[in-house]
Amino acid sequence: MSKKIATGITGLDELVGGGIPEGRVILVIGGPGTGKTILCSQFLYKGIHEKQENGVFVSLDESKDHFYSEMQKFGWDFRKLEEGGKFAFVNATRMSRVAMLKEKLYKEETRSLRGKQLSIDKLVEGLQTQIQRTKAKRVVVDTLAALTYRFPDPIERRTAIVDLIESLADLGVTSLVTTELGYLGLERNAVEEEFLVHGVIMMQTLFSGGTTTRAIQVEKMREAKVNPSLVPYSIDRNGIEIFPNMPLFGEK
Ligand SMILES: Nc1ncnc2c1ncn2[C@@H]1O[C@H](COP(=O)(O)OP(=O)(O)OP(=O)(O)O)[C@@H](O)[C@H]1O
Ligand SMILES: [Mg+2]
Repeated sequence: MSKKIATGITGLDELVGGGIPEGRVILVIGGPGTGKTILCSQFLYKGIHEKQENGVFVSLDESKDHFYSEMQKFGWDFRKLEEGGKFAFVNATRMSRVAMLKEKLYKEETRSLRGKQLSIDKLVEGLQTQIQRTKAKRVVVDTLAALTYRFPDPIERRTAIVDLIESLADLGVTSLVTTELGYLGLERNAVEEEFLVHGVIMMQTLFSGGTTTRAIQVEKMREAKVNPSLVPYSIDRNGIEIFPNMPLFGEK
């Protein structure tokens, strides 16, 4: 049994049986605007503040300045943590959509497998350097969905994601990795990453009776006795809070 890591998100540790298992890779999956980035950042911020466990955030879709200013709204001063050597931001947006479109237009040859493979290797190398420098225990990769543009071919994409997830597991850190929810008609479409990771946390926005409700569910967590219920959560200026004992709809 692995040691359990406190997530820093009120209510989440209760759902996952006391915390997420140390050294593992957990997938946070959800639709746009469900709070994936906030949840992951809260995990890093609280880890540093409450557990003295430093962290690294790898962003595949937003710049450092944008991330810092968004997180400042919750009172989370990541710039200060970076200056204090407790946090590092790895900007991997060059692998993202806009960069890909530019590359596609100007540099067709970088789309060769070697070029792509090199970029995942480079990303992991950069991450490893930052983990060593900050002595990080927690890592976030946000978001695998950005790799869709980098690797339009499903087999190449799968190889890239397997490489990334295996590398994270080898780095000796506890990781949260985000991706987007896919739908097939009304049914949720399982994404391949779900089979590769140790645990899966799903976030969604439900529509019922003219109102919307945010709901979260631990779909899988190896080595743990989880509460598999779909339960409500909120986002406010303090971040994310989960309510494991509150009914999803109806009285509050
Ligand atoms: N202070 C706040 N009070 C209430 N809701 C907030 C607050 N700040 C942000 N939100 C909500 O948080 C959501 C955005 O969170 P976040 O960026 O983490 O989502 P995400 O799942 O990462 O989205 P994306 O798929 O676009 O990356 C939005 O729905 C926004 O309305
Ligand atoms: Mg996000």
